Amino acid sequence: LAGATLAGAALAGAAGLLVTAQAGASSGLDVAIGRALFKRAWVPAPSSTLANDGLGPLYNARACISCHQGLDRAPLRVSKDGAVESETLVLRFSDRHGRPDAVYGAQLQTSSVVGVRPEGALRLDGDRRPKPAGLAYGEPAAGTRWGGRVAPALHGLGALADIPDAAILARADPDDRDGDGVRGRANLDASGRPGRFGWKAQSVTIAEQTMLAFSSDLGLSTPRFPSPWGDCSPAQAQCRAAFQGGTLAAPEIGPEIVARTVAYLAAAPAPAAARADPAGAALFGSTGCAACHAPSMPSPSGPVPAFSDLLLHDLGPALDGGATEPGVAPTEWRTAPLWGLSRALADGAGLLHDGRARDVAEAIRQHGGEAASARHRFDQLTQADRDRLLAYVGAL
Ligand code: HEC
Ligand code: HEC
Repeated sequence: LAGATLAGAALAGAAGLLVTAQAGASSGLDVAIGRALFKRAWVPAPSSTLANDGLGPLYNARACISCHQGLDRAPLRVSKDGAVESETLVLRFSDRHGRPDAVYGAQLQTSSVVGVRPEGALRLDGDRRPKPAGLAYGEPAAGTRWGGRVAPALHGLGALADIPDAAILARADPDDRDGDGVRGRANLDASGRPGRFGWKAQSVTIAEQTMLAFSSDLGLSTPRFPSPWGDCSPAQAQCRAAFQGGTLAAPEIGPEIVARTVAYLAAAPAPAAARADPAGAALFGSTGCAACHAPSMPSPSGPVPAFSDLLLHDLGPALDGGATEPGVAPTEWRTAPLWGLSRALADGAGLLHDGRARDVAEAIRQHGGEAASARHRFDQLTQADRDRLLAYVGAL
């Protein structure tokens, strides 16, 4: 085996795949390994398979696929008395500036390795807003807020990654110079690049978001988030003392695993285009939806019909998400891409960042702030036009 293939074969083994590779690993092989890694159920350290363990000590799920059913948005399973049974909805903690809670960190981990207590569970209140239940480490710090986030569908991420930074920045209008009430600003990282992944556009690249997932959802360290204890806070001594599969210098998940996982996600095709409905599209524009849900963004490989400008917009108090990210107001969200929405609706997955809306009309009703005038225009439409617009959006 040639050097490159050796690494590929080792990874394939780790992913539980039997692959006979030719010298010079192909990107097809990377995608296949990435798919297996995405489905892989990780195990705690130490285990009999020395490679790639280190799940936890605190975690939400054992596999990426547990929350991202296929690559689709999963329906939310809730018991009769409101206990959340799916892993796909997570609860985030922060103060109003996006600083994690001193006790629970940035996310409520509902599972743990033997010898460490899970942090608690999630319940939905009457308005379908998640809240923590049975907190095992006492009350969160004063000033800590919380809110839910559902796992979005992951189709077409490669196309979103291809949109040039300049095209995103060109649509930003933070001071509302054109006076239309819609601002939009990029969530810039330290190097000035616009974020584009996550409900708050908190990750610039698929790799960043993947490393964040390994760390906060699975408790596996990566080059970007090297602490092997993941989201365990210093206040959680048991968890910090638990056996870890990696060290700060050698994370549990190395760059090759991140790269293969990203190769798989980047190769996943965009959702199929909806049947053209020019009248619906015209209403989408005249009602003001397209001011944020840009029907098309440019990219070197062709137009990207994601129905998002990938910018942050303040949607007002009804969409205060409780927890937030540093530098992003609790009411600010990335314009949710609407492509593939018909699939989410068919699967019975909730809409909006915490899945609270059951259909498109409910989602629009929550739009305020910069979207208040679009919602107002929607309310003023004739019944026939409103139905036409809802059908158009629901078919995307
Ligand atoms: C416990 C559930 C859970 C697990 C496990 C999980 N995710 Fe996610 N994923 C989420 C949630 C929730 C979000 C939205 C996060 C946010 O915006 O705060 C998300 C967002 C993402 C996004 C951003 C998508 C977009 O459109 O912006 C990517 C990419 C992603 N996850 C990849 C992964 C990968 C790769 C893994 C496995 C290493 C993984 N996820 C494991 C719940 C999960
Ligand atoms: C000012 C910008 C803006 C305008 C105008 C706007 N939206 Fe949104 N839209 C957003 C943002 C931001 C989100 C994500 C909010 C959240 O998840 O809390 C969103 C979410 C949605 C969702 C939920 C998508 C999902 O994946 O769950 C739907 C559906 C939607 N918008 C439809 C519309 C329609 C239809 C219109 C026009 C009547 C409209 N929006 C106008 C910014 C806007």
